[in-house]
Amino acid sequence: MALRSHVIGTGMCVPDRVVTNADLTRWMDTSEEWIEQRTGILERRWIEPGQRPSDLAREASHAALAQAGLEVGDIDCILLATLSAEHDFPGTSFFLHEALDAGNVPCIDLRAQCSGFLYALQMADALIRSDVHRRVLVLGCEVHSTGLDVSTEGRDVTVIFGDGAGAVLLEASDEADGPGVLGVRVHAEGKHARRLWTEAPSSAASPRLTAEMIEKGRHFPFMDGRFVFKHAVTRMPEVLLETLDATGHALADVDLFLFHQANLRINEFVAQKLEIPAEKVLNNIQRYGNCSAAALPILLAEASRSGALEPGQLVSLTAFGSGFTWGSALLRWG
Ligand code: COA
Repeated sequence: MALRSHVIGTGMCVPDRVVTNADLTRWMDTSEEWIEQRTGILERRWIEPGQRPSDLAREASHAALAQAGLEVGDIDCILLATLSAEHDFPGTSFFLHEALDAGNVPCIDLRAQCSGFLYALQMADALIRSDVHRRVLVLGCEVHSTGLDVSTEGRDVTVIFGDGAGAVLLEASDEADGPGVLGVRVHAEGKHARRLWTEAPSSAASPRLTAEMIEKGRHFPFMDGRFVFKHAVTRMPEVLLETLDATGHALADVDLFLFHQANLRINEFVAQKLEIPAEKVLNNIQRYGNCSAAALPILLAEASRSGALEPGQLVSLTAFGSGFTWGSALLRWG
């Protein structure tokens, strides 16, 4: 039995097209100041026509494989977290599988929205530690831009979201004290699902999408921003401390904190609440906006490449999102 799973490669991909706050002011009644002050976001990346989620996921996967010095044939399983499936049926991971030419290894789409990467990480870790698979490719991948209302009506949601993909390659490790996933805790509270959701299309309706639904904008995401904010700043510290406690670590032991990139103010609030010094928190929402399930693996890929994260360091990852879902993971980097 493998004692733990550890990250042997990370990768990311964002579209080349940069959408600035100034660009958004041309389509809706907003201002650069409002967006920057309320969210911290300066720009985000949106796909070009013809670009697909699986294109971004493929690039991120190749980058993770290259960093690990491995090839597609070395992967035993693909877990892809997303809330913006390339096609509702069958999802995104199968198109990534096709793009990677991944033989017949299993692939799974996982739905846990902005906490999706942590849910997928927990499952990959469990699959590896129970000897089901030796190497699992875990991704978060989102294309929000094609589903946003760029008129003033949708401004509270639309200014936040960006497109992107991030990947980590996990491998079995027998080293008891070596680098790896030390623990992951995830939670959900379905009674708040309608506070942050996209109502249509829905398989509870027949037909699933009507002209009336489109007219009423029910195919665009809805968010009760203040309610989400309030829950995020409560649940994130809670689950972060729970995960540290479960792994026998203290806040002061952690070298780097990576929070979900939903709103810079949420992350500042969480850091302040836990008295975490600003230099221990890394954010990139300023450049990418909120890429939901892709946010944490993109941030991790950047941290590992920029030198912000060094071998032997402890890194804590925490997220909150639609569902509601939330979770935290503690990793020893190496
Ligand atoms: N530009 C300009 N004004 C805007 C705007 C925009 N893009 N979006 C909303 N406003 C306006 C509102 O219409 C409202 O105007 P009013 O006071 O005249 O009614 C005012 O700004 C305040 O709106 P409110 O929604 O209360 O703002 P807020 O301070 O809560 O900030 C968010 C909005 C979305 C930035 C904030 O609620 C948030 O970040 N929530 C959590 C988001 C999140 O974590 N999402 C999770 C995704 S996983």
